[in-house]
Amino acid sequence: MPRINSPVELERVREEILSRRDPNKPRITLCSGTACHATGSGEVYAAFVEELKKRGLEQKIDLKRTGCHGFCEKGPIVVIYPEEICYLLVQPNDVPEIICQTIEGGKIIDRLLYTDPVTDEKITHESDISFYKYQNRLIFGNNMKIDPENIEDYLALGGYKALAKTLSEMTPEQVLEEVKLADVRGRGGGGFPAGRKWETSRNATGDTKYVIVNCDEGDPGAYMDRSLMEGNPHLVLEGLIIGAYAIGAHHGFIYIRQEYPLAVGNLAVALRQAEEFGFLGKNILDSGFDFNVEVHRGAGAFVSGESSALMTAIEGKVGEPSPKYIRTAVSGIWGKPSNLNNVETWANIPFVINNGADWYNNIGTEGSKGTKIISLVGKVNNTGLVEVPMGTTLRDIIYKIGGGIPGGKKFKAVQTGGPSGGCIPEQYLDTPVDFDELTKLGSMMGSGGMIVMDEDTCMVDIARYFVSFLADESCGKCYPCREGLRQMVRILTDITEGKGKEGDIELLEDLCNLLKEGSLCALGTTAANPILSTIKYFRDEYEEHIRNHRCPAGVCKSLIAYYIQVEKCRACMICFKSCPVEAISGWLRTIHSIDQTKCTKCGTCLEVCPPLYDAVSKFTKKEEAPCPLAPGTKVPRRKGKK
Ligand SMILES: Cc1cc2nc3c(=O)[nH]c(=O)nc-3n(C[C@H](O)[C@H](O)[C@H](O)COP(=O)(O)O)c2cc1C
Ligand code: FES
Repeated sequence: MPRINSPVELERVREEILSRRDPNKPRITLCSGTACHATGSGEVYAAFVEELKKRGLEQKIDLKRTGCHGFCEKGPIVVIYPEEICYLLVQPNDVPEIICQTIEGGKIIDRLLYTDPVTDEKITHESDISFYKYQNRLIFGNNMKIDPENIEDYLALGGYKALAKTLSEMTPEQVLEEVKLADVRGRGGGGFPAGRKWETSRNATGDTKYVIVNCDEGDPGAYMDRSLMEGNPHLVLEGLIIGAYAIGAHHGFIYIRQEYPLAVGNLAVALRQAEEFGFLGKNILDSGFDFNVEVHRGAGAFVSGESSALMTAIEGKVGEPSPKYIRTAVSGIWGKPSNLNNVETWANIPFVINNGADWYNNIGTEGSKGTKIISLVGKVNNTGLVEVPMGTTLRDIIYKIGGGIPGGKKFKAVQTGGPSGGCIPEQYLDTPVDFDELTKLGSMMGSGGMIVMDEDTCMVDIARYFVSFLADESCGKCYPCREGLRQMVRILTDITEGKGKEGDIELLEDLCNLLKEGSLCALGTTAANPILSTIKYFRDEYEEHIRNHRCPAGVCKSLIAYYIQVEKCRACMICFKSCPVEAISGWLRTIHSIDQTKCTKCGTCLEVCPPLYDAVSKFTKKEEAPCPLAPGTKVPRRKGKK
């Protein structure tokens, strides 16, 4: 494809691509994002290629590999157009049936459809599935339509139109003004207004300036940046080039986690294609504007996603944070003004330029405009990547989109904002999700992680888990964070092991305040959130652990015990055979009993005991479990039996 030299040429190329495409031609799209890849979408693709060839349908049907559709737990996902028939959990041996029944015969295969967990109804069309129905997929929506390795797919959907408009119709100041008016807030954590940061870099002295994409994404459970970069890399790139023009930067970096091989690969292809088409390099679209991009692969440390640490890593040094006496927007990489934004922040920019700030301002809340991609995981029926307008309530996200809590369990809390976020209890389920509302509750938006917890979750143990993660990931450079986090983990571990003392809660609160005040970077200053929010909303659980050595949720292994009830046990041997550590004694007709000194509290016996017998119970305080049986106790004869 020859280089495109002007906005007019870009339109001509787009029309030419569209003229080659028949919107009514049957099209099979297959998700090839990382999750679907892991569950076999590569094999499913190969099966489609073979089957289409076998039936001589290669020319009559388009087969396309796309980016992540968001509903990863149901992958590999296949969507057939123009009808938009959605098949989930597709395996290679389903492929001949899909071609024969659906493509050739026009019949739906019920077995591969989504079953609504609430109504039990089978849903045929992807957009009717409750997981998708209540979303507004502004940024993420094209992921499922685009082959990320084919720039023509992006161009066909209006790709690089915003760049052409920027370079041909707008001055850098006008672009900056539009982004400021749109009030795009950074999606990487702090929610800092992008326009203001851009302006700081633009106004900083010096000719050399940098723009950077933060695709480090170290939050456990979050993968929206990876999926966007993997599935629609040109969208991020287009936003970056527009930002570079507004700021006056001619060189950009994309900092991307090494553990994201598919994203790294698709990005490399996108960069090559963007250069070939003339969207990168010298004199872009004949505007006189030059811009190049370099990819920097991150070594996978959570703290290296922090702005100063990331820039230090790009300089080739250890990715540790430094004090920000001067903002990185003024003095960043090699002391030059460096504007860092998150993947999703950059991806918002083409929409702002194409549709204008007024349009953008109509989506979201007063203080948080646009949409947010959320990684919805944990104890919720539908897990995956969800995009909603800012201001959507937690309840709508968890119940309407997420389909509620599995197994009829009760909702307990939702942790938002990644490991440094806070846990929000049930009484705040109607809170609109935006930057400010979540902060008011002692949590944060962070990068958009959302972990749902049910009644079987111990909130002290959850705080211990997140603080342990942060302690492991602390770079150790500043004392409050390094030592404070270690002490917090020690105290929390003691509490979960029944060794907590009066005064521990207050000590934790003191340490939290110390970290907030004295840490070098936001890893330390936000680390208090999981502790303070759980103390605030679930203080009784802390007290129960400390005073009564009881874990009300029955999670903390040092405090709980499993017990086989003599009167209910039928000596069926199921738990006996399933116990991974051989802690259960007994035999056929000899009642089973758990040796508490061997038991690891894995709960397998409770899971496998037939509901008809219901003989295993869990005690939330181990001292309350009755004494084990004398060895060899026989099954008591049941009434009415000889
Ligand atoms: C410990 C730590 C890790 C971070 N990791 C990321 C990350 O993986 N991705 C990201 O975009 N921002 C991350 N941030 C936030 C960045 O420092 C920075 O605020 C952000 O990239 C700026 O982009 P934005 O304004 O578009 O949000 C992290 C911050 C801290 C303190
Ligand atoms: S990777 Fe296929 S739906 Fe996410």
